[in-house]
Amino acid sequence: MKSPVRVVITGAAGQICYSLLFRIASGEMLGQDQPVILQLLEITPAMKVLDAVAMELNDCAYPLLHEIITTDDPVVAFKDANVALMVGAKPRGPGMERADLLKDNGQIFSSLGKVINEVADENIRICVVGNPANTNAYILAKNAPKLNQRNITALTRLDHNRAIYQVAEKSGNRIADVTKMTIWGNHSTTQVPDLSHSNIGAEAATSIIDNDWTENDFIPTVAKRGGAVIAARGSSSAASAANGIIDHMHDWVLGTAKGDWVSMAVPSDGSYGVTEGLIFSYPVTCENGDYTIVQGLEISDFIQGKMKESEAELIEERDTCSDLF
Ligand code: NAD
Ligand code: LMR
Repeated sequence: MKSPVRVVITGAAGQICYSLLFRIASGEMLGQDQPVILQLLEITPAMKVLDAVAMELNDCAYPLLHEIITTDDPVVAFKDANVALMVGAKPRGPGMERADLLKDNGQIFSSLGKVINEVADENIRICVVGNPANTNAYILAKNAPKLNQRNITALTRLDHNRAIYQVAEKSGNRIADVTKMTIWGNHSTTQVPDLSHSNIGAEAATSIIDNDWTENDFIPTVAKRGGAVIAARGSSSAASAANGIIDHMHDWVLGTAKGDWVSMAVPSDGSYGVTEGLIFSYPVTCENGDYTIVQGLEISDFIQGKMKESEAELIEERDTCSDLF
């Protein structure tokens, strides 16, 4: 039996976590042979609800769930942690943009970054989910200089999955037939869903799908899908976000499928001309617990222009919260 992995989840009494925690405990994220210790962080007023979540987790009798720690103390939550899913943050409501949350949520990632820097494993793998996810990850990284900075990432896998669904639906194919989807940039309405390198079965998606649909339907539908869910549901996506988090961490730790790639927002190393250090979504392959940005893709002027817009938005977000790092 492997030794347990310590997984911290913040915002553990919230909407996303009610779908997320049970799937982690059942082995869907780190594998069916990998025991876990769940280190669940909440703010003090939510501790009663968190206790109820822990009761339900225990009542599932998951063989891989070795221990549950519930706490409102970040030092306890992040102690020796190997994986952190940073969900705890305010969600947006109808009519808001994700960047409108920066003022409230940025502070959370600045203070938790300092704690993680002191008490977590320096190679901790972090996935920031709380919005605006890319810039919150940037704030966290700047407050945690001791950590392996490559391992501070943000979630764009939900956007990636949304894009795959749209292409499968449009082309009348199965989800599994759609490969090599890409989301570039920010998890915001400037994100760039890009099917120009995608395949549908053995064929290039661009040979099956009309460019007019790609530019005028596909890109805005995927980029605005979070807002569409909020408009329909009255609150932001939860189960699909949890699913994206499971996929993100599963593939990072256990590897991407051969011949395919996934989208992750990671610190830019300058690839594709993006400003270094910004947390920018790229196509990546994962192997042996590490990721590699896919290199050498030909980028059209249209996509390049949109990538620049998303990069400019990330720079603007970064510059408006420079007091936090
Ligand atoms: P929610 O309000 O249901 O839950 C958030 C939880 O975080 C609450 O229980 C709250 O008490 C807790 N919390 C607040 N501050 C905290 C802190 N400092 N430490 C620990 N916990 C804290 O919200 P939700 O629906 O679970 O969404 C959480 C976040 O995820 C939001 O910011 C939302 O916009 C974002 N989100 C991101 C994506 C993505 O793809 N990146 C997708 C969906 C939602
Ligand atoms: C999403 O994409 O569903 C989340 O980021 C929630 C939101 O605010 O749209």
